[in-house]
Amino acid sequence: MNTMTIAIDGPAAAGKSTVAKKVAEKLSIIYVDTGAMYRALTWKAIQSNINLEDEQALTTLLEKTDLELVQSDHGQRVILDDTDVSDDIRTHEVTNQVSIVAKHKSVREEMVKRQQDLVKKQGVVMDGRDIGTHVLPDAEVKIFMVASVAERAERRHKENLEKGYDSDLEQLKEEIRRRDEIDSNRETAPLVKAEDAIEVDTTSLNIEQVVSKIIEIIEEKG
Ligand code: C5P
Repeated sequence: MNTMTIAIDGPAAAGKSTVAKKVAEKLSIIYVDTGAMYRALTWKAIQSNINLEDEQALTTLLEKTDLELVQSDHGQRVILDDTDVSDDIRTHEVTNQVSIVAKHKSVREEMVKRQQDLVKKQGVVMDGRDIGTHVLPDAEVKIFMVASVAERAERRHKENLEKGYDSDLEQLKEEIRRRDEIDSNRETAPLVKAEDAIEVDTTSLNIEQVVSKIIEIIEEKG
């Protein structure tokens, strides 16, 4: 059994989840999208009319919440209290508020515990913001994916148009900048490159090129 642990961190819309999923497939290990967990809690908090600045209320809500990441033929599904919320957590409303929920210390402590429990004794590719620094500090390979704001916004814009959604490129740039700023400046586990992480700049690379680059790094380490 492959028990290798791989941490992939980086700013919003850098393509981490698409790449992490493919790397996990190639290595036949599981993929865990930690952003989906923060998104699911944000979705539930909005549904429950909870003030997203209220750390205690969010923590209590999380304690009462069952969160599962399930692999299916349609990719990874996010199951919250027996309901599939995989699509609900990708809405604009959730995307633009998730960083507020994710800045709270006690919310993060509970999430990190759950993420660490998910991977006990098995190989994993996990993506997020604090994986190499806090969730899997002993990961064998740590990648920090970066790309310019312009490039990340362009990719997201293209994706939105392909899905038939309305999309405004300038607004996307602003939202990505704002999310990065909150994630990078929060007090608890801010978005930062782990000292032993390898930076991969994806600005002029396509998905397959990024995947190959990461597989090369993993093979060098292994
Ligand atoms: O990766 P994704 O863009 O889905 O993450 C959504 C948000 O969740 C991030 O902008 C960040 O605020 C939060 N997050 C986090 N720590 C993680 C994963 C995500 O704070 N490990």
